[in-house]
Amino acid sequence: MCGIVGYVGFQNVVPVLIGGLKTLEYRGYDSAGIATIAEDHLHLIRAKGKLRNLEEKINGHTPGSTIGIGHTRWATHGKPEEHNAHPHTDSRGGLAVVQNGIIENYVVLRYDLKDKGHSFNSQTDTEVIPHLIEEALLLERGNLLHAVLRAVRQLEGAFALVIISKEHPGELIAVRQQAPMVVGLGTKENFCSSDAIALVQHTQRILTLKDGEVARLTADSVNLYTFAGKPVHRYAQVLNWNRSQVEKQGFRHFMLKEIHEQPGVIRAALARHLVEDRVELPLPPKFLVGIDRIQIVACGTSWHAALVGKFLLEELAQIPTEVSYASEFRYAPPPMDASTLVLGVTQSGETQDTLSALDVAVKKGCKLLGITNRPESRLGHFIEELGPKRGALLDMGAGIEIGVAATKTFTAQLILFYLVALTLAALRRPEYEQAALLTALTQLPAQLELILDAQLAWITEKAHEVNHLHNFIFIGRGINYPVALEGALKLKEISYIPAMGYPAGEMKHGPIALLDSSCAVVAVAMPGRVYEKVLSNTQEAKARDAVLIGVTPRTALAEDTFDILLPVPEVHELVSPLITTVPLQLLAYFIAAHRGLDVDQPRNLAKSVTVE
Ligand code: AGP
Repeated sequence: MCGIVGYVGFQNVVPVLIGGLKTLEYRGYDSAGIATIAEDHLHLIRAKGKLRNLEEKINGHTPGSTIGIGHTRWATHGKPEEHNAHPHTDSRGGLAVVQNGIIENYVVLRYDLKDKGHSFNSQTDTEVIPHLIEEALLLERGNLLHAVLRAVRQLEGAFALVIISKEHPGELIAVRQQAPMVVGLGTKENFCSSDAIALVQHTQRILTLKDGEVARLTADSVNLYTFAGKPVHRYAQVLNWNRSQVEKQGFRHFMLKEIHEQPGVIRAALARHLVEDRVELPLPPKFLVGIDRIQIVACGTSWHAALVGKFLLEELAQIPTEVSYASEFRYAPPPMDASTLVLGVTQSGETQDTLSALDVAVKKGCKLLGITNRPESRLGHFIEELGPKRGALLDMGAGIEIGVAATKTFTAQLILFYLVALTLAALRRPEYEQAALLTALTQLPAQLELILDAQLAWITEKAHEVNHLHNFIFIGRGINYPVALEGALKLKEISYIPAMGYPAGEMKHGPIALLDSSCAVVAVAMPGRVYEKVLSNTQEAKARDAVLIGVTPRTALAEDTFDILLPVPEVHELVSPLITTVPLQLLAYFIAAHRGLDVDQPRNLAKSVTVE
């Protein structure tokens, strides 16, 4: 899931491209490159690795230009080497293309082009595109738009592209097919990008392309067309984003900033959806009526949030709920029908596995409820096209999340699950008394702020103490089992330490074999129906010399049981995941930061996974 950006206007294009790529680097950082047009030449600069390597290489060596394209890469085809970096060009080096996505039929196209005398310098799927356009330009008598349309009709897969050509120095073509592409409207200048966050520093007027559309941009105009060449008319939407959302605001990393935003995220969600003492969600009337089963599909952290959601939906609304990995669900969907509500949970709204799983559910006649942090994303468009009878969307409203490791969006997903479960409980079990749970939810932001204010130094110190350990096992039971999974994922993805999450009762059936003094067991033990059970599971680990870390209220028993306490206040058992997650996020953060790792851009990962 690469990041792409394009510009045509009056400004020096290089800082515009670099500025855009900086905000898109969370999408991939294996290599980067730009292409600009000046003095009838196409100027290409590419570098392996982080964007800063490209900046060093550019270092003022590009002639002034007001049109260009840029790319930051997450490698799918071909190693993260300079020769595989984008942009890729045609045989004459006059036309350049950047791509986000995968061309599934590139091998066949490459053979055809080789037969026509074209040769290739990279192992990428992308490089066939500039050569296809080069061929099409001959047939389209040099009309760039028509040549691009002819070329993209031959491509299979998910792809967003931006194209420039030195023979057409005033125009830029952007393409969208199952990968995100937005156009930013300026005055005497226009922009395009994989994500609007790359454009908010220049404009808030955004046009979102739909699948099967292209946009032709000049400094003075933007025109949309279908792949068949039919003009498309669309109104721009005005975003109300501000730059502070894409800045660290004094925090060392975006992840730490986003962890600190969680009390505000909960407060804002409750303010949006709690009216007096009732939950009111912006769902079409009667949308949840007639639902007798729920199927949730998601990936990664969103899948962990879905597991907490399952617990709440079954506990509060007594509705049978299944949770599936979207990538598995896609090829083995369970029996479902119109009385099954399918929830798609994806903060980015762009995760291909989840979108494909929802496509399967639609074909089975199910209603869809999307939970996302980016209503303008592909999920948003997908649900919109279904219409209010079959689809609805809930905006997590957490604000843009830049750190690749999801934190505040996990919390925002959990809050929406509480509110959906309470809404269904009101429908299905009007006798269920919601007041205690609502009160507990409204008290959370202040309790979280206390942890963030009072415990940062403590958790920093404890993270330092366990930084040398080789293996971490996170355990929890009931509603906190998914929190154990999430704690393990956070540590894995940013510190690269092997970490696993398990139901506490499951440890003695195998994982306990891993325990010794070089291993930590992190237990989430909250007062409630399984507290004692979790503590006795930790005793099993203690007997094998593991280092015991407890996320639990500070009591004498806890002090006796655990080597290290990450204390949390005692709260209503059902809201405890919203409290227990934060110390685990901080533990992972400080261990990774102590190791000097790139916490916001961990190796091999990308923020939104737009390919299968
Ligand atoms: C979590 O920290 C990871 N970034 C990853 O597991 C992520 O949750 C997963 O890719 C799903 O993303 P989505 O919520 O945007 O669909």
